[in-house]
Amino acid sequence: MSVTQLRPSAPSPPPQRVTSDTLLQKKLARQPIAALTAYDYPTARLVDEAGIDMVLVGDSLGMVVLGYQNTLPVTLDEMLHHTRAVARAVRRAFLVADMPYGSYHASAREATRNALRFVKEAGAQAVKIEGGSHRARLVHRLTEAEVPVVAHIGLTPQSVHSMGGYRVQGRSREAFDRLSADARALEDAGAIAIVLEGIPRELAASITAESSIPTIGIGAGPDCDGQILVFHDLFNLTFSAPAKFTRQYADGAAFFSSALAHYRDDVAARSFPSDAESYHLPREVQTALEAARPRARKA
Ligand code: KIV
Repeated sequence: MSVTQLRPSAPSPPPQRVTSDTLLQKKLARQPIAALTAYDYPTARLVDEAGIDMVLVGDSLGMVVLGYQNTLPVTLDEMLHHTRAVARAVRRAFLVADMPYGSYHASAREATRNALRFVKEAGAQAVKIEGGSHRARLVHRLTEAEVPVVAHIGLTPQSVHSMGGYRVQGRSREAFDRLSADARALEDAGAIAIVLEGIPRELAASITAESSIPTIGIGAGPDCDGQILVFHDLFNLTFSAPAKFTRQYADGAAFFSSALAHYRDDVAARSFPSDAESYHLPREVQTALEAARPRARKA
């Protein structure tokens, strides 16, 4: 077992928690909302302490952390497990949990029961569900059950098979109108914010101007009320070519690889651990052991 301690929480009073109203006020004040995904305690702590407004435990978990090919296999239990870890770390940011594929598709009753678990058992302040106007009734129902909902339209990864792959959405005039109508329907149903993914900048700007709720873009241009990225994309930790809309802020893969090679070499050279990195017997025990040791015979 490691005796390593995580840094203790700062003794300062807890910061003021970001709420759905904070996000709305930021939209009204035209202050951009910074959002990011997180999936575990240490990264969620760093994200929260960096002053990111909204943390999403995205089902991108399946691809960037669990190694699945897409987000479809992610289970409710996996999402709850990771949401709990993130909730233990986040003190300020608005915490949203993604409802995974299959957890809100079979019936409104089951969807409500599952959504309640994210709030009651895992500490989420809202859930996110993918889909347009056809999800409006469910958004209304969850809102009535006191579960705030973040909607998600455009390129919705859980629809990868029905979309025929990961493609930018909303490029035709019909699709522009349909997605605009989806955004209106979801807002009318009670959504507190809407993620716009993989759509033309012009469409995102139009939806943002028409919506009274914050829009959070990913691959939707700079005119949204906020931006969200996947944590692992920011740090080159996905083992795949970056999408056009991501920006790498640091090369985490190179950073970790170099440290790992260094550690491997130190162990091979017996330069790790050093004496200073070792525990020692108390002086009196050492002395007693030395006294009990048989003397070496003189030749
Ligand atoms: O799962 C996820 O990370 C997401 C964001 C990309 C919005 O849905």
